[in-house]
Amino acid sequence: MARARWGSRMGFVLAAAGSAIGLANIWRFPYIVGFYGGAAFIAIYLLFLLLIGLPVFAAEVLIGRKTHLNPIGAFRQLGGNKAWTLAGAMTLFTGLVVSAFYSVVAGWVVGYLQQALSGQLATLHTPAQAAHHFSSVIASPVWVLLSHTCFMGLSAAILYSGVQKGLEKGNKFMLPLLFLMLLFVLSQALMLPNAWEGVLFLLQPDWKVLTPAAFLTALGHAFFTLSLGQGTMVTYGSYLNGDENMVTTLFSAVVMDTLVSILAALAVFAIVFSAGVEPSSGPGLLFTTLPPIFASMAGGQAMAVAFFSLMLLAALTSQISAMEPSIALLRDRFNWGRHRSVIAVAATGWVLGVPLALSTGYMPSLQIDDHSLLDIVSNFASDCLIPLGGLAAVLLVGWRWGIKEAIAELFSGTSGFLSTNKWLRGYFRFCIQYSAPFLIFLVFLHSLGLFF
Ligand code: PHE
Repeated sequence: MARARWGSRMGFVLAAAGSAIGLANIWRFPYIVGFYGGAAFIAIYLLFLLLIGLPVFAAEVLIGRKTHLNPIGAFRQLGGNKAWTLAGAMTLFTGLVVSAFYSVVAGWVVGYLQQALSGQLATLHTPAQAAHHFSSVIASPVWVLLSHTCFMGLSAAILYSGVQKGLEKGNKFMLPLLFLMLLFVLSQALMLPNAWEGVLFLLQPDWKVLTPAAFLTALGHAFFTLSLGQGTMVTYGSYLNGDENMVTTLFSAVVMDTLVSILAALAVFAIVFSAGVEPSSGPGLLFTTLPPIFASMAGGQAMAVAFFSLMLLAALTSQISAMEPSIALLRDRFNWGRHRSVIAVAATGWVLGVPLALSTGYMPSLQIDDHSLLDIVSNFASDCLIPLGGLAAVLLVGWRWGIKEAIAELFSGTSGFLSTNKWLRGYFRFCIQYSAPFLIFLVFLHSLGLFF
């Protein structure tokens, strides 16, 4: 059975960008930017994207492209012993866990989109009503399970048709639509009264709020938003042919991801400032802060529908990338057919997601100290498993496979300035071998509470 490949380099760029652009760009980025001082935070975030995000991204795609295997097979082949195989298995497992909790939260987006369409959201006029509505829907077992099932089903339907016809075509269709929706939301948001105050807030750096925690949040976010540390980029890289210009490809995906984050932050700030709400109103931003604002603005229903559709598209293009590594494993290792593999992975992710979905209200026994199992699992994955997976990838490329060969591979498809520039090679080499492992180690110590 011939292994799947992308139909074109553009197919890979869009799939990688689609994976990177997710709920975190639209929901989490604006909130942490608001919390940590606007432009100042964006500046250090961009620095971390360069020092850690791009190099780990490159390392993971290289591992995949070199071996043309799923993460376990790829780590085994390049690492050559059990420990590396285990590291690969850990990244694959992380992807499965991410696909489970992501589906629960993205399920809420599906539910909210349906309520925006039916006009139900327009009846929530105050933040208190919106907060009450949110906590009651996420405590309803029927609502959470139905939403989770719908979202997982949609993702499986896209994956079902394979790499070129499912993943590649799906992203080629969904990503441009997502950009259109985002531009629509942004243009409407900028026309609201006082919207420009939000834009100014974003442009004026407040260096005082940049605490050590802000640095580490920026670092962690760079990781999560680029879908690193969980086998996704290794798997997407494994569908590349081996002769394409990877440097430009990787840059393009990172630029698109960053652009969406910044445009989403602009839109969200314009909306919340026009309503006189705090920009740092927390993770509930999406489900509790925005609906009453939409309910009270002219054309608010169209805005709500566009906003939640945008979220749904972003979530779908990420979710399919979290599920693909396990599908690749079943296909490579056990020779399973595409359909059977997709169903098995979707069913496993669905089952894992059920207790998480029920933990947000219906089953208080699934909460520890007021934290739902959903929170606990998603924090553990983002703070521990994902940084560890990224660390494994850079160590494998930088210290085991051989950095010289890896850098030669990275630049193999380039020409002109990109292929002759020594600084660029030096940058990747330094970051993969030194700065990325060191910085990830710091994040890791921080998440264990041993640092700051
Ligand atoms: N990159 C996604 C986001 O920003 C997170 C994610 C990664 C989700 C990988 C699924 C798989 O939301």
